[in-house]
Amino acid sequence: MAALKLKTNIDRLVGNVTIPGDKSISHRSVMFGSIAHGETIVTNFLPGDDCLSTISCFRKLGVTIEEADNHLRISGNGFEGLSEPTEVMDVGNSGTTIRLLMGILAGRPFHSTLVGDASIGKRPMTRVTVPLSQMGAKLDGRKNGDFTPISIRGGHLQPIQYELPVASAQVKSAIILAGLQADGISTIIEPAETRDHTERMIRQFGGEITKDNQTIRVKGGQKLTASTIHVPGDISSAAFFLVAGAIIPESEIVLKNVGLNPTRTGIIEVMKQMGAKLDVPETMNNDFEPSGDLIIKTSNLKATVVEGNLIPRLIDEIPIIALLATQAEGTTIIKDAEELKVKETNRIDTVVLELRKLGANIEATEDGMIIHGKTKLTGGKVSSHGDHRIGMMLAIAALLCENPVELEQPDAISVSYPNFFEHLNNLIR
Ligand code: S3P
Repeated sequence: MAALKLKTNIDRLVGNVTIPGDKSISHRSVMFGSIAHGETIVTNFLPGDDCLSTISCFRKLGVTIEEADNHLRISGNGFEGLSEPTEVMDVGNSGTTIRLLMGILAGRPFHSTLVGDASIGKRPMTRVTVPLSQMGAKLDGRKNGDFTPISIRGGHLQPIQYELPVASAQVKSAIILAGLQADGISTIIEPAETRDHTERMIRQFGGEITKDNQTIRVKGGQKLTASTIHVPGDISSAAFFLVAGAIIPESEIVLKNVGLNPTRTGIIEVMKQMGAKLDVPETMNNDFEPSGDLIIKTSNLKATVVEGNLIPRLIDEIPIIALLATQAEGTTIIKDAEELKVKETNRIDTVVLELRKLGANIEATEDGMIIHGKTKLTGGKVSSHGDHRIGMMLAIAALLCENPVELEQPDAISVSYPNFFEHLNNLIR
């Protein structure tokens, strides 16, 4: 798609946005629906490109998945119901699809091959292939198994006791999914708490998994039973409007149906610490994944430090937090966030490069960035670099810009938020 002229110089944002389904939970609903026994119904499924890649892979594994308006019907026949694919499976841009799928395929007695786009081709996979190989699966890929194409010959799995070298929910989830097929109890120790959607899904599908501080235990051979899943809105998508509402003058935005799982709410804590006028519901709806409505108003912001155990709880929100920090008084420091280098792009580099083009005072560090606020944003030609979250962050930054802004590779946004611009345009007054 050609470069997109973004809306600039916006006076105020007012109105409601119903946030689309959570990407992480949508992926897992397809995966668990496929490995459970019976018919699973998923409502408010996110029809973003990444989740559609997950559906396409499971269809190639022989699972029947019917798509209707905003809901799915998945006919699962257990792990044993998956069959050897006759074609290569393409995960597109989706790290969650490829890493979690490897965990499932590790225990299946057949051969399969996984490929993805150019970005996936640069993202490290040994973090998953190493523990899965220790459990007994045969995995290989380019550069000693680190990069796609990845080939898998699954088989009989031994349980594992594994200390994760990085705080990653994708790696944890891949081992849990393999552990569900192993001969005994697997133990996974996280260096810091990461999103726990996989653990919640197992319980929702009638299985058992325990968590004691950062130690997770799961038994192999459990039978999972189909369920009905209502996917809450994605807080990582809501984050763009939370920041927009805080930095655009005279704004008030109500964000409906936002997932408020405590392993994902780091952005709320950071925004409150920075002085944001953000209302969070006190009693959250007590579904298997909590959710509620958030209200954000224009705020006077001050700088902060974002670090340590908070990082995995807001890892995907760091690009938009960097923009927020450009509008806060003082110097914001983001550290302990080396993982940003292996996301859809190297998000330390892409955030710093692109925000500088718009006039921000921001520098890259080894494990994060330093942002000096508050700065006026100007305008120019920017790029998403094919990274959905960089594209949306730049579209929000443009709202403040005095001069025209053009966004290259805007189509990347459909990976997680296909109707992002429609929702944004509805708020502009
Ligand atoms: C995800 C985990 C995170 C996150 C990604 C989605 C998941 O990745 O950045 O967008 O659904 O498990 P890591 O596990 O690599 O940190």
